[in-house]
Amino acid sequence: MEPADIQGDLTEVLLSEAEIQVRIAELCREIERDYQGRPLLLVGVLKGAVMVMADLSRELRRDVEIDWMAVSSYGAGTESSGVVRILKDLDTDLTDRHVLIVEDIVDSGLTLSWLRENLSSRGAASVEICALLRKPEAAKVDVDARYVGFEIPNHFVVGYGLDYAERYRNLRAVGILSPHVYS
Ligand code: XMP
Ligand code: MG
Repeated sequence: MEPADIQGDLTEVLLSEAEIQVRIAELCREIERDYQGRPLLLVGVLKGAVMVMADLSRELRRDVEIDWMAVSSYGAGTESSGVVRILKDLDTDLTDRHVLIVEDIVDSGLTLSWLRENLSSRGAASVEICALLRKPEAAKVDVDARYVGFEIPNHFVVGYGLDYAERYRNLRAVGILSPHVYS
């Protein structure tokens, strides 16, 4: 259910809270199986991945470590440029660690392909990606994300951590933002 004060801001609810939770549980069973017997470090990408990290990490029936990074793409507008700047780095040494990057969305793929390269170069034993959403039509580079929650059409989406001008992150669902909000 959308809060009353944002009614009309979404053209469509793409994923309900229940659908998201069911899919996250499925991904967790895969992750538990794949990382059995190996210590796991979850790396969340601020700020969009906060909700996915909160739900995914608590759904996992195993011990994990959690750390965070904040990155920003240079360049004007809403398009990712692929030139990435680290705003907040990890506190954890990645040497010989099994790292799972937790992200909200793979859009152009530029941010995640840069991030995977960057973390791999620090001596991690493995670096994989878990993204709640992926927009296949928007891909500029091929990002091999091992765990993807949902493939969605090429629209600007908000909710469940995803924002427009820092709003809508607290929605429990994911929806398509109505163009009247940003035009
Ligand atoms: P790419 O894959 O293009 O994505 O490097 C970079 C970051 O941009 C954000 N992003 C979005 N945020 N709705 C949002 O609220 C969207 O539809 C959307 N697409 C991309 C997101 O933080 C991603 O990590
Ligand atoms: Mg993000």
